Amino acid sequence: MRVLSGIQPSGTLHLGNYFGAIRQHIALQDEHECFYFIANYHSLTTVHDADRLRALTRDVAVDYLTLGLDPNKATLFRQSDVPEVTELAWILSTVTGKGLLERAHSFKDKVAKGLAVSMGLFSYPLLMAADILIYRSDLVPVGKDQEQHIEMTQDMAGYFNNTYREVFRRPEPLLGETPVVPGIDGQKMSKSYGNTIDLFMPAKQAKKRIMSIKTDSTPVEEPKDPEHCNVFALLRLMAPAEEVAQWAERYRAGGMGYGEVKKRLVELYEEQFGSKRGTRDEWLARPADVEDVLAAGAAKARAEAQAVMADVRDACGIVTATR
Ligand code: ADP
Ligand code: TRP
Repeated sequence: MRVLSGIQPSGTLHLGNYFGAIRQHIALQDEHECFYFIANYHSLTTVHDADRLRALTRDVAVDYLTLGLDPNKATLFRQSDVPEVTELAWILSTVTGKGLLERAHSFKDKVAKGLAVSMGLFSYPLLMAADILIYRSDLVPVGKDQEQHIEMTQDMAGYFNNTYREVFRRPEPLLGETPVVPGIDGQKMSKSYGNTIDLFMPAKQAKKRIMSIKTDSTPVEEPKDPEHCNVFALLRLMAPAEEVAQWAERYRAGGMGYGEVKKRLVELYEEQFGSKRGTRDEWLARPADVEDVLAAGAAKARAEAQAVMADVRDACGIVTATR
């Protein structure tokens, strides 16, 4: 199976990104042929500072490598190293009704929040569909918030295939076990809500963030409900199953303060992410090696994309110079 996913370099990666997406991406590299790319063209819809975009693009690559992406198993590349995706996005736009894009939840949410709407933001799902279809992807591991975009991709593949001929394979979304990771305020963890716990925060800062996770005001001695606790939701992602069960019992028994479980979460964060700060610094100190990984990934991905584009152009009668 061909697995593909993209992650936007539009901010520092956080626990929501890791447990919602990156963890699955890395696990899948052992079983499938995986393509992962840094969606820098997509980030242009929100990041308009060239230096910042360059730095964030590098950071996503470094973070994936730090978290265990093995370039010998999975193909990691920048979206912009395969510029054919923008060509395919255009072609898809000519067989896709405007109504489909107008129904996109993420677009509607952004409009509702009063964000200035660029054409790029509106046509975002077309570029995402191109990303998926150009590599003939079977499975697209993403968080719940991206599911509709995959369904739109299936529709667009159908429109193209019906208009011309069967060129595209139908991709399926692959949702992780953790559809929504809560942030420190209990809403979905998201960089746009300022409620994140970032992946490689300095120890002091991470501790401060974790200790400030919002909890209710049940007094220490009273029983508490683990199922409605933001701290417990994060603990469940990071602690072994038996330990999670023990904490659940302690919640229900009463006599446990939230401070205690937060302290344990700080330890777990340090074990799983803090311990990798050194590895991350090593990758940051070797930019040429990171570039080698991305360049090799790009060459492989681009060869795939070019073959599909030759078929797409042929199917719709677009002629390019052969000499
Ligand atoms: P953000 O909301 O911080 O802008 P992105 O939209 O860039 O994050 O998400 C990148 C990937 O991480 C997507 O696949 C998304 O589904 C996943 N993701 C982001 N936040 C969460 C969360 N709180 N819970 C689960 N998955 C998430
Ligand atoms: N829209 C995705 C996100 O915000 C990123 C993305 C772009 C993507 N192209 C993709 C994900 C193709 C999966 C497949 O998370």
